[in-house]
Amino acid sequence: CIDVIRAHDGFVSCMNDFIPFVNTSSYVFTRDMPMYSSLVSSPHNPRCSNSTASKRLVGIVTPNNIVEIQASVICSREHGLQVRVRSGGHDYEGLSYLCKTPFVIIDMRNLRSISIDIKQESAWVESGATLGELYYSIAQESQTHGFPAGVCPSVGVGGHFSGGGFGAMVRKYGLAADNVIDAYLVDAKGRFLDRESMGEDLFWAIRGGGGASFGVIVAWKIKLVRVPPKVTVFNVYKNMDQHTIDILRHWQHKAPKMKNELFIRVLIQYVHNNANPNISVQALFNSLFLGELKDLIPIMNETFPQLGLKEKDCLEMSWIESVLFLAGGLNKTTELLQSNKTDPYVSYFKAKSDFVTKPIPQHVFVRIREKFHQQKLIFMIMDPYGGRMSEISESHIPFPHRKGNLYNIQYLVKWDVNGVRASNEHIHWLRKLYKYMRPYVSKHPRSTYVNYRDLDIGTNPQANTSYLEAKVWGEKYFKGNFKRLAKVKSKVDPDNFFRNEQSIPLHQD
Ligand code: FDA
Repeated sequence: CIDVIRAHDGFVSCMNDFIPFVNTSSYVFTRDMPMYSSLVSSPHNPRCSNSTASKRLVGIVTPNNIVEIQASVICSREHGLQVRVRSGGHDYEGLSYLCKTPFVIIDMRNLRSISIDIKQESAWVESGATLGELYYSIAQESQTHGFPAGVCPSVGVGGHFSGGGFGAMVRKYGLAADNVIDAYLVDAKGRFLDRESMGEDLFWAIRGGGGASFGVIVAWKIKLVRVPPKVTVFNVYKNMDQHTIDILRHWQHKAPKMKNELFIRVLIQYVHNNANPNISVQALFNSLFLGELKDLIPIMNETFPQLGLKEKDCLEMSWIESVLFLAGGLNKTTELLQSNKTDPYVSYFKAKSDFVTKPIPQHVFVRIREKFHQQKLIFMIMDPYGGRMSEISESHIPFPHRKGNLYNIQYLVKWDVNGVRASNEHIHWLRKLYKYMRPYVSKHPRSTYVNYRDLDIGTNPQANTSYLEAKVWGEKYFKGNFKRLAKVKSKVDPDNFFRNEQSIPLHQD
């Protein structure tokens, strides 16, 4: 506590000296200030709320400009404090707001401006913006442009782009990070850099390698993609009986090979059904087609007749309306995607992920169905890859899960009771499911997606973790790209200032 108080005084006075003309109380919030508690309590996953960590929190900075970020980095460094950067705050393990030593949070909420250039088919978006705000801003300017990123509108651009970012246009246009063409960043020395001044190595690393290891990413320049004026969406719900398990067999073969315009994902979940207790585990086929209904039906009849898709299952709409549909908000208006109107995602949850390279045998789905009867707040989300994802090389950016991957699985368990026992029980159950799936998913390494962060796969034991120790978890996220990430890290942050439980370590030859 004494350390924190001492660090607090030193940090605030350093910030004052750095920017003497601005009252620090307008952007540095410490525990004696009224705004402090509302800023601390923004995490989306209360499982990660940690009262011990909050005792080590020296202050929250909400910068309004680049100089305030530079001052935060330099003053934290000078006073031996670590930094956590928070954009949308969705990190699955809370790494954007938890720390084991005294620290400062740089919260990007005030840096959320978006400027769209339809003529150049590009945009600059600041890291504090949400995906919903970005999609909405694009649609305000053009009904025939979009951006291929995640499906949840409240997710922050800062963390999402820096870890890859995929959504319903992944098969047509790849990841969000594949479509980043420039970025602004404040590095460990407090320097403000763009693509040219940071160099291609660092620019490579922040597109999928996780931003938190390399600096504070202020803004991203992105390439907009073309979408048709009308797209088609559908939701087809199936009771998870033997027939549906057979459809899943076909889905595994077909979904990654269909036309790139067609994305059909599957969500397996338990549903409570009073009317028919036999229908309790359900598979939802949830889809976006970048085209009109009249073109979709023949494609489905020819390539995936097993689903039995009918016209009445489908809806035509604009791309921006499809964003709401996929986020589960069909009856809402697109204005909801704007700042402060997006529903914050708040739930106790723990997730893990896998990549599938060979179709999973049918008996495994039968077993999964049985397991879902034991644990009712479990979700399995299967997102097909293929298409554009298979055309991009594994080393193009740090995200390596390309050709050969049929789909990604996210396993997610939720609970709504605030108790340690309950959370342990749920997490234990999820770990058992993950263990059960081992023979059926990618191997050597068993790959996983950094944006679905999972500390179970390994953590850095201390500040100067060796490269060899970190390889245990690093190669699961980044495969062969982990080594290059560590080399970039050694070059741009040799003192390992930007570090956390799963930050990229320095490389030792
Ligand atoms: P947060 O602010 O917590 O940051 C996450 C990480 O990035 C932290 O390590 C943080 O320090 C770092 N970081 C954030 N901003 C930074 C910056 N400006 N500079 C440097 N480092 C920075 N993913 C996906 O690919 N597709 C999807 O559809 C979804 N859907 C989805 C729904 C929901 C409800 C959740 C909770 C999550 C997802 N995700 C997802 C996962 C999501 O992409 C992932 O959690 C992102 O890292 C979240 O980014 P935020 O900025 O919101 O998080």
